[in-house]
Amino acid sequence: MTSHSQVKLKPGDTIGILGGGQLGRMLAMAAARLGLRCQVFSPDPDSPAFDVVANASCAEYADVEALELFANDVDVITYEFENVPAAAALVLSARRPVLPERKILETTQDRLAEKDFVTRLGIGTAAYADVTSAASLRQAVARIGLPAVIKTRRFGYDGKGQAIIRKHDEIDRIWEELGTKSAILEAFVPFEREISVIAARSADGQVECFDVTENEHRDHILKVSRAPAAIPESLAAEAREIAGKIADALSYVGVLAVEMFVLPHAAGPKVLVNEIAPRVHNSGHWTLDGASISQFEQHIRAIAGWQLGKPVRHGEVTMTNLIGDEIATYPEWLAVPGATVHIYGKGTPRPGRKMGHVTQVLPKSA
Ligand SMILES: Nc1ncnc2c1ncn2[C@@H]1O[C@H](COP(=O)(O)OP(=O)(O)O)[C@@H](O)[C@H]1O
Ligand SMILES: [Mg+2]
Repeated sequence: MTSHSQVKLKPGDTIGILGGGQLGRMLAMAAARLGLRCQVFSPDPDSPAFDVVANASCAEYADVEALELFANDVDVITYEFENVPAAAALVLSARRPVLPERKILETTQDRLAEKDFVTRLGIGTAAYADVTSAASLRQAVARIGLPAVIKTRRFGYDGKGQAIIRKHDEIDRIWEELGTKSAILEAFVPFEREISVIAARSADGQVECFDVTENEHRDHILKVSRAPAAIPESLAAEAREIAGKIADALSYVGVLAVEMFVLPHAAGPKVLVNEIAPRVHNSGHWTLDGASISQFEQHIRAIAGWQLGKPVRHGEVTMTNLIGDEIATYPEWLAVPGATVHIYGKGTPRPGRKMGHVTQVLPKSA
């Protein structure tokens, strides 16, 4: 059984989750509330998701035997990160349905394939070019102009594997430092704000979007999300429509996040797609306390073959990430009226490491 149309879990069934970070942990907690069990596969014995499930598979993603045993234990498989190795996804999907489907990873693991896909749908992105050498980077700069952002095609996250090029005399040095032969150059977008849409799609094609979220980054890492975004409803509708179009085009089953830039524009603002995350997303954490149904529950419902919820937002919601040493401030947050504190149970608070978050809801006036 590998087709998603056949997945119909019932309470007591088991979901396999690849990846043991905070997203896997929050997925497992949402599943538990619906009476579904989870088994987490992660190579890291200190995985925070292991703490909330009865069964863990601690092995490398290249360990075929461990993957097969894991698949045998579960009814459907999902993942909390997009860099699932293609070989692992192949082994697993031969045994159990993997949702979202394996082919979606090929598009979203590669920034060039992703931008080509979005462009084919007629959706706007920053101007971009494929870059494979210092010479092709110079050609790309000549076409796209400066400033521009160079990004590795694969494995980038939290601003890692990317750099801004501002001047021509930086080109060779930045190319050397990037240390890859497979990159994409993007025009620098002078955005007014960054937004994201968290969308869910069920196997039978139902799409539900959460209210558009506005995101503030610090040192390229998400710091604060606010819902709803302070944008006109027409623009919010356009953003949701873009996310729905992407979900439909991928025949997506589960939750995905689409990050977008809002441009300041004389004739009214416009949105460009920055990237797609085929998973639950940090900018959707506000839904845990700020909506009737969280992004984690929507994802679990979708991959279980259940009806999606119609999420109702409880008010104006702010989510603040606790990054690195900021986790030490949790006792102060405990005392803030209306605040909900989430601590991921990770060991050492290294700089840039997401350790927890806090949600604050300002209720809608009656
Ligand atoms: N073309 C661009 N123009 C302006 N800012 C950008 C551009 N690409 C990325 N950024 C900034 O860098 C952040 C991280 O880039 P992104 O492509 O989302 O990579 P990741 O989140 O995988 O690290 C974005 O949220 C945005 O703030
Ligand atoms: Mg991003």
